[in-house]
Amino acid sequence: MKVLIHETRETATGCAAALIADRLASEPDVVLGLATGGTMEAVYADLIARHRDSGISFARAQSFNLDEYIGLSPDHPCSYWTYMRDKFFDQVDFAPGHTHLPRGDAPDPEAEAARYEAAIVAAGDIGLQLLGLGANGHIGFNEPTSSLSSLTRIKTLTRSTRAANARYFASDDDVPRLAITMGIGTIMRAQDIVLLAFGEAKAKVVAQMIEGPVTAACPASILQMHRKVTVVLDEAAASALALRDYYELVHPRVVEPAS
Ligand code: F6R
Repeated sequence: MKVLIHETRETATGCAAALIADRLASEPDVVLGLATGGTMEAVYADLIARHRDSGISFARAQSFNLDEYIGLSPDHPCSYWTYMRDKFFDQVDFAPGHTHLPRGDAPDPEAEAARYEAAIVAAGDIGLQLLGLGANGHIGFNEPTSSLSSLTRIKTLTRSTRAANARYFASDDDVPRLAITMGIGTIMRAQDIVLLAFGEAKAKVVAQMIEGPVTAACPASILQMHRKVTVVLDEAAASALALRDYYELVHPRVVEPAS
């Protein structure tokens, strides 16, 4: 696990965007695994700027998002489809049909989850997977006690996850209780994983993920078993790491984005 500690959220965001841009340059038809949530918004803004100003292109790439709420259609204002269109897809150049999310309004959500898993496999699995980190250790919507070898399926969201995401909805009660999420096994098949976490509120779970035991109680801890994970943190998110000096010795304090 490569742990990169940045002075600020801004350079950390730039670092993650640069990793994606570099991958697109070396492998234009890469399959990207994408996430939603607050942390990712600045990453997408940075990638849009690179597309506009430096000509990075998504024209040959494909993307698969991690998750979608059950019951929300792609045009529902709070769906992850809408989030991705508004914050990213509509402002870059993915080819039509090359961006994928599960359909939250599918009549048979279990069949939809199986279809989505099969589509990821058919695409050759994820080349570069972008992840955020839930305050409870979730990745995607794989909540604590999720099977560490799970595939895409339906998960019940915890109260804390629904509360954390209530800001995107009119009221707390409007946050769906179920979601379709890529499984932990699906995520672990990705060739490369880049996880971002910012802020003091994530410090404890970041330490559990990197330095704690591998346990379904903190699903992100399974990333210790993956061969190519880069964790990109700001100072606040790194503040509870016991071996922080070591990570900074291996990868001296990063001030500028990678490129
Ligand atoms: C969303 C997702 C979640 C978020 C996580 C962090 O697609 O997969 O795992 O990445 O909940 O969310 P933020 O960035 O809002 O703290």
